[in-house]
Amino acid sequence: MNIRILNSREDLNATAAAVIAGLLLTKPQAMLGLATGSTPIGIYRHLADMYRKGQVSFARAYAVNLDEYVGLSQNHPQSYRNFMNEHLFRHIDIPIPHTHIPDGNANDLEAECAAHEQAILEHGPVDLQLLGIGHNGHIGFNEPGHSLTGYTHVVDLDERTRTANARFFGHIDAVPKQAVTMGVGTILKAKQIILVAFGADKADIIKRALTGPVTTACPASLLQCHPNVLILLDQEAGGWFH
Ligand code: GLP
Repeated sequence: MNIRILNSREDLNATAAAVIAGLLLTKPQAMLGLATGSTPIGIYRHLADMYRKGQVSFARAYAVNLDEYVGLSQNHPQSYRNFMNEHLFRHIDIPIPHTHIPDGNANDLEAECAAHEQAILEHGPVDLQLLGIGHNGHIGFNEPGHSLTGYTHVVDLDERTRTANARFFGHIDAVPKQAVTMGVGTILKAKQIILVAFGADKADIIKRALTGPVTTACPASLLQCHPNVLILLDQEAGGWFH
């Protein structure tokens, strides 16, 4: 794993955006694996700026997202489809048919999971997967447990995850209890992975994920098994690493 501690969040956002833009310069038809949550917002802002300045184009790129809440319509303010539209897709030139996010409101969620895997098979593999990390070590919505599921699947959300994400919904009762998520196997098939974390509250889980045992009790620890992972941390999240 290549671990980089950046001086500021701006540096971190600019670095991640530069890696993504660099990939698109060499491979315009790349498939990007994208993430939601508060962590990637600044990276998306940078990418949108670079697009406006003519430094990068997404016109031939594909995007596949990690996850989506079950039970939210795609135009619900907190759906991840809406998140991606607001924070990235409507600011760049990616064709919306090139973007794949599971529909958490689909009648047949199993079919929706299979369709997500199929989209990755058709246009992938994922060239670069962007990841954040939950305080419990989840990646996508792969929650800690005795076992993990390899492929895209429906998952019951951990209460800690629902509590953490209540800030976006106003109240915990409004947070969905399930999500569709890429599996850890799906994630590990990406050619390159960038995990981004900032803030002191992520320091403990980052240390555990990067230096602790590889265990389903901390899904992010499985990244230790991947040959091409870049970890981008700010001083607060990576202060322990010296
Ligand atoms: C969410 C997402 C994850 C994300 C994580 C951390 O629940 N499913 O993909 O990495 O939680 O979120 P944040 O970046 O807001 O800390």
